[in-house]
This record gives sequence, C-alpha cells and structure tokens, in this order.
Amino acid sequence: MTLLSAVAATLAGALLLVLLLKVRTRLELSRAKHPSLAGHSRWARRFAALVPFYEYDEERFFRADNAPEKVGEQRRAGFMRLAAVYRERFAITARQTSEVDGSISDLQFVGSYRVPFQFSRLVRQHLKAGSFVQSSSGVTITDLDGNTFYDLAGSYGVNVFGYDFYKACIARAVEHASKLGPVLGAYDTAVAYNVRRLREISGLDEVSFHMSGTEAVMQAVRLARYHTRRTHLVRFCGAYHGWWGSVQPGIGNPTTERETYTLKEMDEDSLRVLRKRRDIACVLVNPLQALHPNANAPGDSSLVDSSRGAHFDREAYSDWLKRLRDVCTRNGIALIFDEVFVGFRLAPGGAQEYFGVRADMVTYGKTLGGGLPIGVVCGRKELMKRFRDDRPADICFARGTFNAHPYVMAAMQEFLRQMETAPIRALYRNLDAVWNLRAQQLNDRLREAGLPVQVANLSSIWTVYYTQPSRYNWMLQYYLRAAGLALSWVGTGRFIFSLNYSDADFAAVATRFVAAARSMHDDGWWWSDATLTNKAIRRQVLKEMLAQRLPLLAPWLGGGLRPAHAGVRRTAEPLEFAAPLKSSALHPSDR
Ligand SMILES: Cc1ncc(COP(=O)(O)O)c(C=O)c1O
Repeated sequence: MTLLSAVAATLAGALLLVLLLKVRTRLELSRAKHPSLAGHSRWARRFAALVPFYEYDEERFFRADNAPEKVGEQRRAGFMRLAAVYRERFAITARQTSEVDGSISDLQFVGSYRVPFQFSRLVRQHLKAGSFVQSSSGVTITDLDGNTFYDLAGSYGVNVFGYDFYKACIARAVEHASKLGPVLGAYDTAVAYNVRRLREISGLDEVSFHMSGTEAVMQAVRLARYHTRRTHLVRFCGAYHGWWGSVQPGIGNPTTERETYTLKEMDEDSLRVLRKRRDIACVLVNPLQALHPNANAPGDSSLVDSSRGAHFDREAYSDWLKRLRDVCTRNGIALIFDEVFVGFRLAPGGAQEYFGVRADMVTYGKTLGGGLPIGVVCGRKELMKRFRDDRPADICFARGTFNAHPYVMAAMQEFLRQMETAPIRALYRNLDAVWNLRAQQLNDRLREAGLPVQVANLSSIWTVYYTQPSRYNWMLQYYLRAAGLALSWVGTGRFIFSLNYSDADFAAVATRFVAAARSMHDDGWWWSDATLTNKAIRRQVLKEMLAQRLPLLAPWLGGGLRPAHAGVRRTAEPLEFAAPLKSSALHPSDR
C-alpha cells in the first residue's frame, strides 16, 4: 500500500466513524421523542393540514356511535330540553355575546373549538351560554341574566385565593400608585419590595419584570442561549409555555421551528440526549404536566373518544426532576421551571418547594400580578446579566414599554404581602390532603351512581376523564353549565379551583356535578355496546376523514361503526333541527 492510499484509507475510516457517530446521535434523538403526534411537531402540523372539514347531519349527530334509533331519540329529546333551558336561562348573556362574537377573533376561535368539529355547529347553534359575566363574589361568578355559577374556570389559573382577594389587591394598588400614575421607566417603591420578596421566594439572585407569561418565557430562553452560546431549547411533549413560536413548534404555529427539541418527559432516553448533545442551552419544565406527562392540555374539542387519562404521582415526578437537575448541572444546561401556571398554587415557594428541586431560572406570571397582567423571570446572576464585561457590544436585549408598571407592581406588592399573612398561610395547610380527599369523595359518588366519569387532580387543578368508550363525553360540559358550574372554553379537561373553596362550597359543586352527569346518562349519551371501543371510534373517525379527502374511496370505507360517508356533510350551510325545540324544559339538576 502506498503512503497516499494509506492516508486516504485512514481519512475514509475517520469519516465513516464521524458519520456513524452522527447517525447514532440522530437515532438517540428520535428515540427520545414521544411516539404520539404531540411528540412529533412537524408531523403533527402536516397531519393537521390534511384534516378535512365535515360535519354530521341531524341523524348522525345523535347516532355517531351507531346507537339504536330509540337511543338517538332519547338523546335528541335531552338535547332539545337542554337547548330550551339555555334559551330561557341565558337569553341576555347569549344575546350580548352574539352582538360581538363576529367581531372578536378570540371569541370565534374558542366558540368553534369547544367540541369535536363534526358536532360543533349544532352545539353552537343551540347551546349558547354566552361569554359575558357581570360580577364575582366568593367562589362564584354571575352572568348578565343573574345566574350565579360556581367558578371552575379559575381565570386561566390566575385565581388562586378567590376573586375578592384580587379585588382587594387591585383596590390597594390603585390607592398606592395613584400619586405616581402611569409613569414608566422610573420605578415605584413597590418594585424594591417585590424584588426582595421574589428573591426570597425563588432562592435566585435577580428578577426581571414583563407583561405576560409568554414574554417571561421568551426572555428566560433568550438569556440561556446568550450565556451558554448554544442554540437549542428542550421542551417536553405536550407542555404549554405560552404562544411564542419556539415553545410551540407544532400545531398552531405556521412556521417551522428548527431550534427546539420536543422530548419525552419522565424518560431515560431524554436524559441520554441531554447528557450527550452539546447544542442544548436550556430545558423548560412546566410542572403542570405531572398530571398528564407527554399529553397536550386536555381540551374537550379533542375528546373524540374516552382515551383521555390522567394520574399524578408526586414522588415519581419529584424523582424525575431531581434526575433532570443532575443532568443539567453536569452538562451546563440551564434548567428553567415555568411556574407561570403552578407558582404560588402548589406551595408558597412554588413548584421548587413542592417538588424539592431548585431551578436555574424560574418564570412566574398569572396570579403574581395580584389580578393584573404580569410575567416575571427570576434567575441566577450569571444567567440574568444582559451584557458581557469583556465584549461591550455583545448584549442580550430585552425591553418592554409597560414592564414594571406602577399599578401592576403595587398589586404584586399587595399580593406578596398578603402571602405572609396568617389567613393566606392557612390556605396552604394540608393543601394536598384537602384536595385529594375532595377528588376521592367525588369519584366515590360518581362510582356509586354508576356514572362513567372520574376526576384526577394535581392539588387544586383537576381534569375529568371517562371510564367507558363514548363519542359524546364533550356533552358533559353543557350539562354542567346548566347545573350552575362555569368551566373555561377547554371544558371538562381542566377545572381550576381557588383555594378559598370551603367544604360546603365543594359539596355543592360535587352534588351539581353528579346531578349533571346523571342527567346526561339518563338522556342516553353514554349508551354503549361491545363494539363501541375507543379503537373502533378512532378508526371510524379516521375513515370519515379519508372519505372526505378521497371521495372516490368512500363506498369502500364502510365497516367499523357505520359507513364513513353516511350522514356526513361537507357544506357550510346552516343546519337546523327538523323538530321545533320546546321551551318547557327543567333544570337538569331539578329533574
Ligand atoms: C406554564 C405556562 N407558561 C406560560 C404561559 C403564558 O402566559 P401568558 O398567557 O400570560 O402569556 C402560560 C399560560 O397559560 C402557562 O400556563
């Protein structure tokens, strides 16, 4: 062998080795992705783009699961009764809503995504509860018709201590800040207090103020990238961190995010990736995911069958966070706890205290503003600095006109002061024991009543799941509303209780919940037989979609529950009931 060919062979060998190592690293990354669509952002977007619009006609609406005709009629009668209740009881609120819903983009969106889209139009047409409320008090809110509801929506998680608490924070903030008014740039004295308290609570060195949780997350990630000089962020499958593109790389974001890894949570494969790759700047953790690791937020619009599940294991999640902490420390990766949702709800010291793990940065928001808009980043000094001493032009920019607004800072000051008082401290006493017992009591009652519904909880954050295959679980949110329980637009996927719920308040909620579920049961929505499995339901829906995309194949896509093309419409014209709706219906919980 000549010298030249020896060198060439060595180079080729080295190249092959590099290639093999690259392939191995890539395979490790693939293994660390969750097998669901939520774990594959690009595929999820491609799939979402292919899902065609179609909807069920009146006959199919009530018998999408191939139930006997008699059951279809029972459901129709129940639906009509419920529609009449809605028409009578929510008339003013619904009228006010329909005057503006064509002009409010958000309202149009949430209105369309409350139930699976095949059922959406008739539901929107006949079960209008409206989106306006006039007042709040204790654990209730009151709509424009004067109906008072127990609030299970929790204002997206802002409401930890009850609405009256926040009203007081805002009133005192107005009093405090009114002398200064909306002066921005210079600080109100409340800032000094807030910074001191936030440093104590987070155990971290520096604080920055922003206007929303989304902005706080953006800033934390930007700083992590700046200081580590690495490109990628890691988020875990299903976790929500606000609507900024890099943390929402899948459905909902029209661009492709190339510097985000979405990995499996609570999984050894992900730790291997974090251990080996050198391009990871930070890992974002949303501790709310402990209730349903690797699953998206459980909205009722995706409640196609009954496969939604949830279970919280505090010990297992704490252990996971400890291992994650260890890997991040060893590899110079910034561990960011996104406590925008759970901060101050699980414990006075937030998720760090609750799970016994320290992060390098923590984002807070929602409740911390004392009822006003807020986002906060707390972090270690070396991660928070926005410039380099030795490279004065290499800065990490972050500003915001309304950051540290005097009124917001004053409301936060009041919030943080109140956190120190005995009555608020008392709310945290036995918190988990209280809420676990309440969940168990409701589950026992549902089980004893033979209803296919259960709840799972992470402290005061609950989710409803269903124990028997059904296509109609999303109907429960409408029975609950009629029974005086107000949910957010995601429906039964998330209940957020404020900590000021007394045992008596909770007992009233549980009674209404069971009554609503019983009404739904009595109206036949949970009919089932041996052929109705979650798998059969999903297969059927997939066939319906295929029949829409490929109409020529429709006649061959029968089987399953019913021929995929029968009772399915592609038009967007109004769909009305043949039979008139009677208005003499009773409150479901009165029946
Ligand atoms: C964990 C988490 N991070 C970030 C955000 C975004 O916060 P905001 O809606 O204030 O922008 C949210 C909002 O729900 C959240 O739950």
